[in-house]
Amino acid sequence: MKTARKFLFLLGLNLVVLLSLVSVTVVAEDHSTTMEISQRTEQTELSSVATTTISEQTLPSEEVVSTPSSEPATTKEVETEPQTTEEAVEENSSSETRSLYRLYHPGLRVHLYTKDSNEYNVLGGRGWQQEGVAWKTSLSQGEKVYRLFHPDLRIHLYTKDTNEYALLGNRGWQKEGEAFRSYGQQPIYRLYHAGLQRHLYTTDTKEYQVLGSRGWQQEGIAFYGLGAPGQPLPPNNGKLSGKITIENVNHQKGSFDVRISGISSPKGLKSVLVPVWSAEKGQDDLAWYEAKPEANGTYRVRVEARNHKYSRGTYYIHLYYKTLENRDVLVTSTQHTVQIRQSIAEGKVSVQNINSQRGTFEVYVTDIFAPNGIKEVSIPVWTETRGQDDIRWYAAKRLANGVYQATIYIADHRYQKGLYHVHAYIRSANGQQTGIGTQRFNMPFDGLQYNGNYYQIHGKYGYIPIINKKHPINAAYNPGENPTAKAAFNALTNQMRALGFGISYSYSGFRSYSTQHGLYWNYVRQYGQAAADRFSARPGYSEHQSGLAFDVFGTGGGLLAQPNAVHWLAHNAHRYGFIVRYQAGKEWITGYMAEAWHIRYIGPEAADIYHSGLSLEEYFGVAGGGY
Ligand code: DAL
Ligand code: ZN
Repeated sequence: MKTARKFLFLLGLNLVVLLSLVSVTVVAEDHSTTMEISQRTEQTELSSVATTTISEQTLPSEEVVSTPSSEPATTKEVETEPQTTEEAVEENSSSETRSLYRLYHPGLRVHLYTKDSNEYNVLGGRGWQQEGVAWKTSLSQGEKVYRLFHPDLRIHLYTKDTNEYALLGNRGWQKEGEAFRSYGQQPIYRLYHAGLQRHLYTTDTKEYQVLGSRGWQQEGIAFYGLGAPGQPLPPNNGKLSGKITIENVNHQKGSFDVRISGISSPKGLKSVLVPVWSAEKGQDDLAWYEAKPEANGTYRVRVEARNHKYSRGTYYIHLYYKTLENRDVLVTSTQHTVQIRQSIAEGKVSVQNINSQRGTFEVYVTDIFAPNGIKEVSIPVWTETRGQDDIRWYAAKRLANGVYQATIYIADHRYQKGLYHVHAYIRSANGQQTGIGTQRFNMPFDGLQYNGNYYQIHGKYGYIPIINKKHPINAAYNPGENPTAKAAFNALTNQMRALGFGISYSYSGFRSYSTQHGLYWNYVRQYGQAAADRFSARPGYSEHQSGLAFDVFGTGGGLLAQPNAVHWLAHNAHRYGFIVRYQAGKEWITGYMAEAWHIRYIGPEAADIYHSGLSLEEYFGVAGGGY
């Protein structure tokens, strides 16, 4: 039995305070809004405050460590061995990296680590079990890891701590020089078994945990190895470190990701903790998040404003590591200033089902995000022609699937074709109105069609015949008086009589092609053609031939002229489905001088036309004027 010896190592305490100021400008994709993220980082790095105790209270008893039948595992002996099959075990193609092999001696019950494939092979033939690659190591980069051998204990110890190396060297250990390098991101954990008096090194956190519960002391990260390809970043000299990066800032939803990279935790790492709170009202919204590991060795936390009382603006983000000793240690404290505009509504506007025959289109508002609720979705629509003179605001109706929809009739925009502007607004419950999108499209309205007898256009309620100097009526078309129009004419004129206007029972309604022929040429003979064309239609161009037009006569026998009657007719004909067809000042478009007496049966849309103040041609956007 040897005397007990005790080693105590105190590793120095370093405190590094790092201040940095970062300013980032992020431009959101769908909006031209520029958001400023300024980031003030205050990073405190604590070096490992590790106290490592190596106890050598007792030498191993013969029962515990039986002498192996083969050679003792010393480097010296191995060095004298001839070169063997290096190729058989050397699997690294890179000249910069080497595999570090692990061997186990069942008799000695110790592990040995070597980057020397020769040693690995020789020992493999002398009672050692080849356990394969433990991890990979750099040949020249990183800190040196030294190997010591204790001839009595017959164990090896590995350390990159030159103090420990020197101290043990004076206490019965043989210094064997550089064994390999500590380099990379793969933590190599060290365990110590007081009874067996030996260390074990592993990359396997599971093994580390399991042995930790079976009498082994978890001593944290001893050094680093090269892990999977693409992770050759060196550790931060074994100091406690981690870098906070803010990613995926979503100003609309008020969320961002905290990414932790460059993680180094010499005392081990059970979990990565990220306390976050907003500057608003102190720490009332403090939340501790446990970051989730990602495949590339980084950790991530999604922070959402809704978990922080919907606070906007500055967020404080700290980083703690829970070590294997269950201690929470502060790694960094970082202040992120996020200038986010208030959470406002958004959605997508689209125009669909453009019907050029009927002159309709549909507006849909989808993908609605409305943090403050929806009171109304409004759709202003106007045509390019003459600016916003035809603008109308439509209230979209909510469909079952949460989509909002409005059907637009170009009748409400003078049947204009060409460029239409469509905007959409969401009015929130608190009255805030937000423009959420715009659309422009070309309305190819081609509603005017010739049916063999006359041109017609599809109005709001059905087809409307259009007869003017640009749109003739078939000479053979001879329908007679339209009964619906006649009934309406009777109702209208009876009402006028009831109101006391002098309205004759004589009138001029349907006129055949030949009747109009005689009438027109009579006027031409009397006044000349130019004058006649201003008040009389050429045969084949008169509305009277459609059976839908009527000239109202006064009781005196002539065309209606009495001012009060003319006024009443102008403002009430639409109630009976008529329009006064030829208004003053519209000769350029109707083709005729004003005729206060000539009414044209339209149907219900007469009211729309009347209220528009437009002529029939203007209202439907069709050609008129001269021949
Ligand atoms: N007086 C109208 C224009 C016609 O002759 O039809
Ligand atoms: Zn007439």
